[in-house]
Amino acid sequence: MEIIIQPTALEATAIAARMVAAHLREKPDAVLGLATGSTPVSLYKELISMNLDWSGVTTFNLDEYIGLPCDHPQSYRSFMWENLFRHVNIRRENTHIPDGNAVDVPAFCRGYEDRIAAAGGIDLQVLGIGTDGHIGFNEPSSSLASRTRIKTLTQRTRDDNARFFGSVEEVPHHVITMGIGTIMEARQCLLLAFGENKTRAIAEAVEGPITASNPASILQMHPSARVFLDSESA
Ligand code: PGA
Repeated sequence: MEIIIQPTALEATAIAARMVAAHLREKPDAVLGLATGSTPVSLYKELISMNLDWSGVTTFNLDEYIGLPCDHPQSYRSFMWENLFRHVNIRRENTHIPDGNAVDVPAFCRGYEDRIAAAGGIDLQVLGIGTDGHIGFNEPSSSLASRTRIKTLTQRTRDDNARFFGSVEEVPHHVITMGIGTIMEARQCLLLAFGENKTRAIAEAVEGPITASNPASILQMHPSARVFLDSESA
């Protein structure tokens, strides 16, 4: 793990954005794994401002809520179009977000894995981290070998995400998420974590034992994982 600590989230994000941009310039048909939540918003803003060519880029998002209409403002499909896709020249057909309304969820999940494999695998995966150490929506006790599947959110994650919804009751209980095994196959991982509420999860992930109790700790086994922190999360 390479740990990059900057005084502020904006400074750390700027470095991460430069790394993503360098990757896209070097490999215009790159396959990116993308994250949602409040953390990557500035990264996407920075990337938009760089006027990169996204016409050959393929993306796979980590996760999606089950049961929200896809045009719901808090669906991750809406998030991605609002915060990145509509501002760049990416082809709609090259963007992939789990379908939270799939009729046959296990079949959808198998197909999602197949599509990642058919695209040649993920070159660079952007990650956030939950206050409970989740990556994607792989909550504590997720199998470290897991693949894309349905998961139940912990109460803590639902409480954390209530700020995006009217109330915690409106946060869905179930999600589709890439598995930890899926994430670990990405050729590079960039994890961003900012603010004091991430300190404990980051300390456990970076300095603690590798354990399903903190799913991000598996990144210690990844051959190319970079962790971007501000002074608070560090
Ligand atoms: P956040 O979420 O960026 O909104 O803090 C991170 C995550 O849950 O992975």
